[in-house]
Amino acid sequence: MKIAVVGTGYVGLVSGTCFAETGNHVTCVDIDKSKVERLSSGEITIYEPGLEKIFSRNLKEGRLQFTTSLKEGIEGAKIIFLALPTPPGEDGSADLKYILGVAKDLGKLLQAGDYKVIVDKSTVPVGTADKVREAILTSGGGDVAEVFDVVSNPEFLREGAAVEDFMKPDRVVIGTTSEKARKIMQQLYEPFVRQGNPIIFMDEKSAELTKYAANSFLAVKISFMNEVAVLCEKLGADVDMVRRGIGTDFRIGKHFLYPGLGYGGSCFPKDVQALSKSSTDASYDFKILNAVMQVNKMQKQFFISKINQYYKSDLKGKKFAVWGLAFKPNTDDIREAPALEVIEKLLTSGATVTAFDPEAMPNVKKETKLDIVFAESQYEALEGADALIICTEWNEFRTPDFDKIASQLKAKVIFDGRNLYDIEIINSLGFYYESIGRKKIIAS
Ligand SMILES: NC(=O)c1ccc[n+]([C@@H]2O[C@H](COP(=O)([O-])OP(=O)(O)OC[C@H]3O[C@@H](n4cnc5c(N)ncnc54)[C@H](O)[C@@H]3O)[C@@H](O)[C@H]2O)c1
Repeated sequence: MKIAVVGTGYVGLVSGTCFAETGNHVTCVDIDKSKVERLSSGEITIYEPGLEKIFSRNLKEGRLQFTTSLKEGIEGAKIIFLALPTPPGEDGSADLKYILGVAKDLGKLLQAGDYKVIVDKSTVPVGTADKVREAILTSGGGDVAEVFDVVSNPEFLREGAAVEDFMKPDRVVIGTTSEKARKIMQQLYEPFVRQGNPIIFMDEKSAELTKYAANSFLAVKISFMNEVAVLCEKLGADVDMVRRGIGTDFRIGKHFLYPGLGYGGSCFPKDVQALSKSSTDASYDFKILNAVMQVNKMQKQFFISKINQYYKSDLKGKKFAVWGLAFKPNTDDIREAPALEVIEKLLTSGATVTAFDPEAMPNVKKETKLDIVFAESQYEALEGADALIICTEWNEFRTPDFDKIASQLKAKVIFDGRNLYDIEIINSLGFYYESIGRKKIIAS
């Protein structure tokens, strides 16, 4: 099948490449000329495990192409995916200007006799499929009414495991009331669900809400555990034990129970906020969501206050080594990364920061104005620092050489925002160590 994917970011590039991998001919469209040039010449633009290999193969075999021209991209395509940004607008609702802008352009390009399925893959508020349909009709006129359907097909991939998630999804959600569109979408997704995971068909609005409900529920789990961790510290309990104690209950499940610096990334913060706004617009006060956002904000402050307390609120002239900048491991994505907020607070308090991240440093250099020194390695970042601060749980930070850490740091002090280390081991090594929801280790 010939497919167009409009928007070639984290979702668009992964989706386009994976659709090509199952034999489809995919043209990815993006307005970013330099991105299209880099991709066309074989250079991958994001870090995502496993993506480069299938990207290169499909590019070489001619099943994957890139263009800046929407007209050229959709030519002959049976399905057009919209994988465009939906950033928060000023009032917290999802800004649909990218989606509706492309929808208007599509209206002018659709032609009688050339039926296409237009798919919202972006995370969009309930009612967006109707708005996309209307935008296409308004710009295309009556002639195009019969030649398209708008389908909602939210994406559930996780950055850092995006290829695996896309190739073997837990489920595929497709919102459509058109039998014709349903058949085409089923045919497209059949190769991805051979192991029996379901394609769940529903109406457009339910599909749109499913995505927000999924992300918001996961955010609830994270904020809930972050509050349990705070309580653990106050009551002298250990959140690791509590997590294991509840996670073995199949009704609760073991995932998303790790306390830390709060959720970040390009999805959870904006999606929780957007669902809250949608609820308010529908005259419903979604109380849990508002609490989740508040807890998430407090959680970073909770971690920073540990550092402040240790230094009696005098960070001026202190030097910190920060391990991890990406919002989570295995990605170079720094959107809403908790590390950036922590660093900003340290810098405004007069401290200096040397940071290391295996993949995200180029994006921090390019997209932020933070006055950070970037180290070549995790150990180089430690040289002469007053303390190590861990913000992202990359694998290489999990079992470090503690002797090397001790010898590079000016003082044996670690603030661990990801609970990476065994309390007893750290204790035996004589570090001062603070993590989240666990006993504080006072240096011996
Ligand atoms: N990133 C994730 O993990 C993830 C997961 C599931 C869903 N989503 C949702 O998918 C959508 C896209 O997210 P993303 O992370 O891929 O965004 P992104 O910012 O990485 O990519 C968006 C791309 O769209 C391009 N673009 C903007 N306007 C355009 C236009 N008019 N024509 C063509 N291209 C245009 C941009 O240049 C960019 O390359 C969002 O709604 C997001 O919430 C993201």
